Amino acid sequence: MSGNNIEDRFDRKIAEMGIRIKDVDQLKVRDDVLDEITLVSLHRLAHKKWITAIGGSISTGKEANVFFAERGDEKLAIKIYRIRTANFNAMSEYIIGDRRFAGIRKTRKDIVFTWTRKEFSNLTRAYESGLPVPRPLVWDRNILVMEFLGYEERPFPQLRSAHPDSPERIYEEILTFIKDLYQKAGLVHADLSEYNILMGDRMYVIDMGQAVTPDHPRALHFLVRDIANVNRFFGHKCQVRDEREIFSEVTGITQQAKI
Ligand SMILES: Nc1ncnc2c1ncn2[C@@H]1O[C@H](COP(=O)(O)OP(=O)(O)OP(=O)(O)O)[C@@H](O)[C@H]1O
Ligand SMILES: [Mg+2]
Repeated sequence: MSGNNIEDRFDRKIAEMGIRIKDVDQLKVRDDVLDEITLVSLHRLAHKKWITAIGGSISTGKEANVFFAERGDEKLAIKIYRIRTANFNAMSEYIIGDRRFAGIRKTRKDIVFTWTRKEFSNLTRAYESGLPVPRPLVWDRNILVMEFLGYEERPFPQLRSAHPDSPERIYEEILTFIKDLYQKAGLVHADLSEYNILMGDRMYVIDMGQAVTPDHPRALHFLVRDIANVNRFFGHKCQVRDEREIFSEVTGITQQAKI
């Protein structure tokens, strides 16, 4: 039976919105991404011409699906947070405590929308501070639209599967990123690892939904964890620096208090 399964329905709806589907076979959309809210958001984004074509699925993660898309000649990545399967409790922990998002309602939908807005806002702060992150374009409810980082339609590899010629240089770039993110953008990434760093012509950091401002009660704890993750990964590849020293350089706090 054709025409009745979820993928066909999704394709039809997308086509009705005037979004061109680049490769129907590649666009494997799972049941849990296809909900009315997502379709309405896609519809609005298409109507406003933020998206003119949608391509294959790039990634299916714990909380979000990422798709390749286009706006005319411009290549885009769209990240769709799933309302139904999102890790709602973990998200709440990062939102509560961030003063920028005080007073939001705490239903599942609201948390996911706020999360999307938070990732957009974090990317904007980082991008405007000149940091190597994808340029954010727009968000609508549970959908974030950003610059695509990749060759042709393939995303740059994650650091974990890339083999940089000079790990020392990449290590230093990441430490500079942590410091600039804290000092210039006023953020701690809070999920920095070889999974959230893409290696193209240079290194880029992605996945900023969970990033928090330094006044978040757990910001310093997250910072310590980010530094430890980076040192763990590079420990096998090059000489790494003392974690307390890095922490002091980033925060200006010399006596590391118990955090
Ligand atoms: N702007 C982008 N350009 C190109 N590819 C991207 C972009 N953003 C994300 N991706 C691709 O999608 C993958 C997942 O992105 P991201 O880390 O933001 O999602 P995720 O929600 O962490 O997934 P998980 O739920 O597993 O944690 C990345 O590893 C990368 O391959
Ligand atoms: Mg990720």
